[in-house]
Amino acid sequence: METVVSGIRSTGNLHLGNYFGAINNFKKMQYEHNCFFFIADYHSLTTHPTPEDLHNNVKQVLIEYLAAGLDPDKATIYIQSDVPEVTELYLLLNMNAYKGELERCTSFKEKVHKQPDNINAGLLTYPVLMAADIIIHKATKVPVGKDQEQHLEMARTFANRFNRLYKTEYFPQPYAFNFSEELIKIPGLDGSTKMGKSENEGNAIFFADDPKVIEKKVMRAVSDQGPKEPNQEKPQAIQNLFNLMKATSKPETYNFFEEAYNNCQIRYGDMKKQLAKDIIEFTTPIRERINDIKNDNNYLQKVAKKGKEKAMDSASNTIKEVRSIIGFKHF
Ligand code: TYM
Repeated sequence: METVVSGIRSTGNLHLGNYFGAINNFKKMQYEHNCFFFIADYHSLTTHPTPEDLHNNVKQVLIEYLAAGLDPDKATIYIQSDVPEVTELYLLLNMNAYKGELERCTSFKEKVHKQPDNINAGLLTYPVLMAADIIIHKATKVPVGKDQEQHLEMARTFANRFNRLYKTEYFPQPYAFNFSEELIKIPGLDGSTKMGKSENEGNAIFFADDPKVIEKKVMRAVSDQGPKEPNQEKPQAIQNLFNLMKATSKPETYNFFEEAYNNCQIRYGDMKKQLAKDIIEFTTPIRERINDIKNDNNYLQKVAKKGKEKAMDSASNTIKEVRSIIGFKHF
């Protein structure tokens, strides 16, 4: 049995990228491993949400985790800020995280570009907090999408550095995990390579989207005039549609349209209709469950309380040992 940790920032509704990158793999692991899945609300502070938005987003993500199939009787589902031990480990790891390596991190460079007026220290040390999230439970497997690969590499660096510094084997090495060989990147519908909640409107399909909205978004997805020669290489936007279909439709459906593309007989209108239908079929049970539980505060409170207790148990144990390794002693 291994320890598995993953999380999602509480910055808005969950989308298909979150599902296929992280939740899907976690769901399969929750019955066999010691699993922790949390809501990264400390991380969401880098963009300065209002107190109302912060709270509503945390609640929404909790509802959507449960609706998407995380099982609170099997996995530990918790809110990051309910376990302040994480911030202590973050502080300790920060002492051995260097400015140069943090500045070289791709996600930091992207944020510098995106929000030049708010390049705060929390953004710079984001990968350190993420490493703390993971190693506080001594996790070895971390189900995430491809965009998190570099963060996992940094988590290994920080864990290793701690071990070397204190001449111990205390923290194991955490690795990004996906059941298929490769980590997943779900494309956006606007021709961009990544589905994301903060991208253009129409880029992402959210669990909570109405079927009508899903249909509209998919039908509007960027495509082109169609191939001119058999077996032509696909331009990015078309490859995106196929990638999305691979994740959400049956293999026969995917193969049918692939063949049509290769024979220059593809009709993107038909392909998008089918894709929309398959996505609606996939998201409908999740949306229904969101509606079932979203007003059940009792249930949500119970889940969060139980998760907090289990996560604190594990985290406080680690912090106790880490303090002793570092040399904090009682008089
Ligand atoms: P976040 O909130 O950006 O995304 C949550 C998870 O969803 C995955 N994901 C995708 N996967 C495939 N295709 C996409 N288009 C796509 N969009 C999002 C992400 O890879 C991620 O797995 N830093 C993390 C949150 C975090 C965390 C952690 C994760 C904080 N601490 C510890 C794992 C372990 C983040 O911002 O994810």
